Amino acid sequence: MERLIFDAHAHYDDDKFNDDREELLASLPEKGVFAAVTNGTDIATSQVSIDLAEKYDFLYAAVGIHPESTADTDVGRMDEYIEKIAAMLKNKKVVAIGETGLDYYWDIPKKEQHIIFERQLMLSKDVNMPIIIHDREAHGDTLEYLKKYQPYGLLHCYSGSAEMLKEVLRCGNMYISLGGTVTFKNARVPVEVAREVPIDRLLLETDAPYLAPVPFRGKRNDSSLIAHIAEKIGEIRGMSAEDVLRFTKENACRFYGLQ
Ligand code: NI
Repeated sequence: MERLIFDAHAHYDDDKFNDDREELLASLPEKGVFAAVTNGTDIATSQVSIDLAEKYDFLYAAVGIHPESTADTDVGRMDEYIEKIAAMLKNKKVVAIGETGLDYYWDIPKKEQHIIFERQLMLSKDVNMPIIIHDREAHGDTLEYLKKYQPYGLLHCYSGSAEMLKEVLRCGNMYISLGGTVTFKNARVPVEVAREVPIDRLLLETDAPYLAPVPFRGKRNDSSLIAHIAEKIGEIRGMSAEDVLRFTKENACRFYGLQ
């Protein structure tokens, strides 16, 4: 089987994989997975992500602090955290800073979120490494940061409008990734985005273990299920699923600086 799946964003450190993580990860290449990027959400899980990536050839790591980790992050120690992330970025299996960003869905103090996100944006510019950005119900402020920093980044599980997408793509060197939500029955905006996004700016992701595509909605997600997302995007764009996988794999390799 030709390995065409590149999962641009997953969380294989998640507890939902505790029972069969090793077995599952070992099985993914034979299910067509070429590569996957597992993302840390704080310093500890970033290290776990690196440890996993070192164990599996196809697996790479992103390291950073997620907005949902804000309560456990002492912003007074940001210099120290940034130093730790910068040190982790030197590992050969680490391909990006992330996951970071803004989350206004949960009740998380905004001031602290902004400090944590902005410092990682600055680090990304300093070391010229891509950054994986989470934007949940924080489109306006996220766009302001994109305009200010012009990052080399991925807006993951993109949930904005097709209109906002145009503005996002005018900033720096930006890509977006789409996942299971595009297959959901009520998906209207993600379908429009899947149709409009320039094909060379699109990546596919799972956000595993979350957001499994139809017909696995509500179940645990893993990188092999990207085939269903490619199928749906192929339908929307009038392309074969295989071509969607080929283009998005090529884009992800370019984005993450891999062969
Ligand atoms: Ni995520």
